[in-house]
Amino acid sequence: MKKTILVTGGAGFIGINFLELMTAKYPDYRFVCYDKLTYAANVDKLAELEKADNLSFVKGDICDEKAVDELFSSVQPDIVINFAAESHVDRSIESSDIFLKTNVLGVRVLLDACRKYGASRFHQISTDEVYGEVPKGSDRVCDETSPLNPGSPYSVSKAAADMLVMSYHRTYNLPVSISRSSNNYGKYQHPEKLIPLMVKRAVNNQPMPVYGNGENIRDWLSVTDHCRAIDMIIHRGRTGEIYNICADNPVSNLEMVKIICECLSKPESLITYVEDRKGHDFSYRTTCNKLKTELFWSPLSEFEKELKYAIASFM
Ligand SMILES: NC(=O)c1ccc[n+]([C@@H]2O[C@H](COP(=O)([O-])OP(=O)(O)OC[C@H]3O[C@@H](n4cnc5c(N)ncnc54)[C@H](O)[C@@H]3O)[C@@H](O)[C@H]2O)c1
Repeated sequence: MKKTILVTGGAGFIGINFLELMTAKYPDYRFVCYDKLTYAANVDKLAELEKADNLSFVKGDICDEKAVDELFSSVQPDIVINFAAESHVDRSIESSDIFLKTNVLGVRVLLDACRKYGASRFHQISTDEVYGEVPKGSDRVCDETSPLNPGSPYSVSKAAADMLVMSYHRTYNLPVSISRSSNNYGKYQHPEKLIPLMVKRAVNNQPMPVYGNGENIRDWLSVTDHCRAIDMIIHRGRTGEIYNICADNPVSNLEMVKIICECLSKPESLITYVEDRKGHDFSYRTTCNKLKTELFWSPLSEFEKELKYAIASFM
């Protein structure tokens, strides 16, 4: 029988990249994308991917218990991968309500559906932000056993979801796994996020707003490498386990914006410094040795080359 993979939030940045790669890699699997189609969804790319025989789409909310029950009853998924989330930190600072609903309560609905319908794996897409800030000058590196210390309403909601997922493993023996990745770059990212936003600004010769002094650092991971890691974890990763996914590629926001200026032959004088984000975490730093030694994953993308492709895709 064909394996059925339910991809919730599959129309967003990482989900749509995952579906593009996996529908091509596994022609014998049946993929079902379930997505609410919020402002963050890429409906054009989804429509294109839906032309494939092995992908179908159902519009719906992961918080809608009745709709999720009907979905599981008709689809009977073997594996559920949850990308669905409110993902923009700035929006969570404006209002955390929808973040707690979707990112925590929505995950509860999915977990209970997995229990009821007996999925063989629930995989939760999480973030390195759950470990909290690594301050300037600190040499702290977080592995999967490090304490959670989230600093923004967004990362709190993701940490709460992670704990709920692990509790379903401990309490009900639900076969779950979690991956916590660093910042992704790549095509199909929503224009509100740093790289596409700066590209749009630069192309239009508009000011490129950088928070604070631009020193904040993120570890930039190619979305393709992220998707490859998820593929390995759902097939070969152990249940009840958490896997960090990192690139060991720290770049400050200011450096990133300068790279974009250089790529587009735009003057750095477009860069402007604006009031810092409230509670802005300086950096995050994880090790993904567990993923490398257990599953033999390593990032394959060349940063500058892949970043140039991504930048070109936003023009
Ligand atoms: N983008 C990153 O750099 C990054 C890094 C680490 C972890 N993550 C995590 O990866 C996941 C995907 O991130 P992304 O950048 O692709 O996010 P995104 O905001 O681009 O996409 C989220 C998708 O979820 C859908 N969605 C939102 N609420 C929903 C709901 N209630 N029901 C069903 N669908 C809903 C949206 O329509 C959208 O298609 C998130 O869980 C995020 O926390 C992202």
